Amino acid sequence: MFCTRKINDDYTWVGADGRRLPMFEGVFGVPDGISFNSYLLQDEKTVLFDTADSAVQRNFKENVLHELNGRTLDYLVVHHMEPDHTALLEDLMIRFPRMQVYCSERAKMMIGQFFGTEMTQNVVVIKEGDTLCTGRHTLQFIAAPMVHWPEVMMTYDQTDHLLLTADAFGCFGALNGQIFADEVNFEAEFLDECRRYYSNIVGKYGKQVQEVLAKASKLDVQMLLPLHGFVWRKDIDWIIHKYDLWSRWEPEEKSVMIAYASVYGDTENAANILACRLAEQGVRVRMYDTSVTPASYIVSAAFRASHLVFAATTYNAGVFVTMDELLRDIAAHGLKNRSYLLLENGSWAPSSGRGMTEILKPLGWKELAEPVTIRSALQPHQEPVLERLAREIAQDMKRSAPAAKDDGKAAKQWVCRICGYIYEGDELPENFKCPLCGAAATYFDEKKEEPAKKWVCSVCGFIYEGPAVPADFRCPLCNAPADKFVEKKDESAAAAEPAKAAKKWVCSICGYIYEGDELPADFQCPLCKAPADKFEEKKD
Ligand code: FEO
Repeated sequence: MFCTRKINDDYTWVGADGRRLPMFEGVFGVPDGISFNSYLLQDEKTVLFDTADSAVQRNFKENVLHELNGRTLDYLVVHHMEPDHTALLEDLMIRFPRMQVYCSERAKMMIGQFFGTEMTQNVVVIKEGDTLCTGRHTLQFIAAPMVHWPEVMMTYDQTDHLLLTADAFGCFGALNGQIFADEVNFEAEFLDECRRYYSNIVGKYGKQVQEVLAKASKLDVQMLLPLHGFVWRKDIDWIIHKYDLWSRWEPEEKSVMIAYASVYGDTENAANILACRLAEQGVRVRMYDTSVTPASYIVSAAFRASHLVFAATTYNAGVFVTMDELLRDIAAHGLKNRSYLLLENGSWAPSSGRGMTEILKPLGWKELAEPVTIRSALQPHQEPVLERLAREIAQDMKRSAPAAKDDGKAAKQWVCRICGYIYEGDELPENFKCPLCGAAATYFDEKKEEPAKKWVCSVCGFIYEGPAVPADFRCPLCNAPADKFVEKKDESAAAAEPAKAAKKWVCSICGYIYEGDELPADFQCPLCKAPADKFEEKKD
């Protein structure tokens, strides 16, 4: 029997779904299976693009032989030598001894390594820009090194405007008969698995993906044919935009991903409380237990979110094992452009914060605050600390550029005149209510691209950003009125003045920092209400 589908008049999908693989590449769970795609071009000459995994060899062979219908196979193009696409290569060489194998120099070397050098006799080495005419079709070869191995090539069919993309634009999940992405609800059902595939398999090689996207942008591409997942014949710009974001390590959305490693639930409890405080700030949160969720899903979630929080207990004087593995995995993928916070737990010698910092430091992320230390369990006086961290994350989101929409354009922003909350979207709904202070939509002004000024509350140090502090504004921390705010000069202006660094005073109860020349004797911590004598001057 056979199971094939036509791509167009001359191209046929002859791949197969695999649903019995316990682990793809020995490490990635594929609970919904995975497809191994192969495409047959029938012109004056016949061309097969890649073979398949040994797990689906029977279906694959039946498909190829059925579609050839007695014709010989003239050419096999090997885009990628990873065995999930080359398991049947030797079989085909024996069955069609006159078949020529087109591949890169490195792929030829790998054929020798995997199958023996005697199997390289019919190999024709191709390089960037080479072409092959098969009758009506002209095939142009494009080098795509490190997407995902160094030998990778792609093929552009100049006649039908198809780009055969090797692993690029791949996706976990069986096709279930639906070969085209427009035959499923891709965004709702498959985008997460597409991101998981990209981030874990190709995610480290963003620079090389960018180089290939630049080459593709010069071609008239009307279909993308990857080695896993769906063929794209519609919305090609949409999926290319996703690849552009991912390969520049730019977050897809402003949101928080919290990953925690908790032995007895106390670290998890702190993470849950932080998630509540973030939700109260109108921030979207996704959470993962590193002992339960496989790392590939959390790596993928980290590629999606702008802000990352890692909470881990101390273990063997270091980081708990599942968190340690996760962070090393993320670091190995070179994830960039993130803001982050750490929570550490330890009953007698907490050190997971230091361990996590060491792993993440080379990534150059923006650390929003010093790691918070929990001793055994979160203490009541620390709840305001988490509240402060949630506010810090929400503020950082407001300060950073608006998240890119799917069409690549920035969303508009509306600012609440009462509390400074920022809503992002094309339009502010008429019945919108501020999630922080409850103000109606009429209290929101569209934020324009004017340089934002900063205004500091002289009582508690809270910073309001905007052209001016509204007359009816009250500090959300200490309730001071608008006339207590003074404009904060920017750093360049400040640098022109004689340097006079403000002193810092740290609340020994909750960690709140007051900045000023002197701490007023009647000062009260705006977070935990501790009196002035609980503050200590911070020395650098
Ligand atoms: Fe699907 Fe890199 O192999």
